[in-house]
Amino acid sequence: MEGMAMGSGHRFVLGCVVVFVVLFSLPIGCTSKTDNAESQSNPLVMQGKELFTDYCIHCHGPSGIGDGFNAGNVDPGPRDLTDSETEDGEVGFMASLTNEKIYHEILSRDLLNPDEFEALQEAYLDAVMMEDEEAAKVAEAKLPMLVPPAMPTFKYTLSDAERWALVAYVRTLHKNDAPPVDVPSTVSTVRPTFPKRQAPSWEMAEDERIAIAESGKFIFIDKFNCNGCHVYKTGELGGVVGPDLRRSGERLNLDWTYQWISSPQAMKPDTKMPNLALSEDEAKAITLYLETLKLPATS
Ligand code: HEC
Ligand code: HEC
Repeated sequence: MEGMAMGSGHRFVLGCVVVFVVLFSLPIGCTSKTDNAESQSNPLVMQGKELFTDYCIHCHGPSGIGDGFNAGNVDPGPRDLTDSETEDGEVGFMASLTNEKIYHEILSRDLLNPDEFEALQEAYLDAVMMEDEEAAKVAEAKLPMLVPPAMPTFKYTLSDAERWALVAYVRTLHKNDAPPVDVPSTVSTVRPTFPKRQAPSWEMAEDERIAIAESGKFIFIDKFNCNGCHVYKTGELGGVVGPDLRRSGERLNLDWTYQWISSPQAMKPDTKMPNLALSEDEAKAITLYLETLKLPATS
């Protein structure tokens, strides 16, 4: 119950955060930027573009402006990756990020649990409200960590080299001063693997089942934001990248569901559903939550 309330809290606080992000980017100052359009023929950029088409355009759109077919189904909407400067001619948010920041904190971050996420947001807002510049700077440095889980992590889906290729491509979408991305040859080109898991026993007391399913609902929404890509409930915001899950309880087999959400790529190597590194307990809880999803019969 508490989880649900927190969910809507996130969205509200985030609205404020976005406002402050804009305020904060103002004093950074204006610098000259290079147009990276000519690097479009660079092999690294081309590889990144292909990955972007597979994993990112449904939200960010083909040009990166944030108008993918799923953009209206994530709250807040996807970042405009072409934002080079603010309306006042100052350095825009994307242009202000270092290559390393995009790689480490955006494409390769670990998901925070919902409580950590909220604590980080609060620390940031407090600093801003108190006009404590030092604390605000410290908090601002963690800003990309505030990216809500609406943006899935790709740490567990793509290789290190592929995520660097994505950085190189994203860099061509906005003007910036960052040095060209130069991937060290030591970076791994192997995608992380998550072997198919053995499903647990589904036998348990009814009250335990209900409690676990309830916790599954909480993390489905507030930790992993599965609804950024899936419709799960009539009348709630739900993405259309993946199948509608509203009939999961009637359609999906428990063992299969558990295995799919634990390691989608082990079941279908080229699937666009990212691996979100669910623990065994998290996968079990979400599977039991999906089991409860049924639509009223229509006649
Ligand atoms: C399910 C929708 C979705 C998908 C898929 C997605 N993103 Fe995002 N992305 C978002 C959202 C939402 C934000 C955050 C918007 C905000 O807070 O302003 C975001 C933010 C970003 C940012 C800026 C970080 C920031 O602090 O706002 C970058 C860079 C980015 N995405 C790159 C990518 C790349 C590269 C891919 C593909 C590998 C991708 N995204 C896939 C939704 C998505
Ligand atoms: C970036 C978008 C994205 C995110 C985030 C995402 N999914 Fe998916 N999901 C997909 C896509 C796409 C498919 C279809 C996969 C395919 O057939 O290759 C899918 C398939 C599924 C299926 C199989 C449904 C069916 O009818 O076959 C389940 C169950 C599922 N996802 C659950 C989840 C859960 C639980 C989460 C959160 C932990 C999640 N998904 C997060 C995109 C996503």
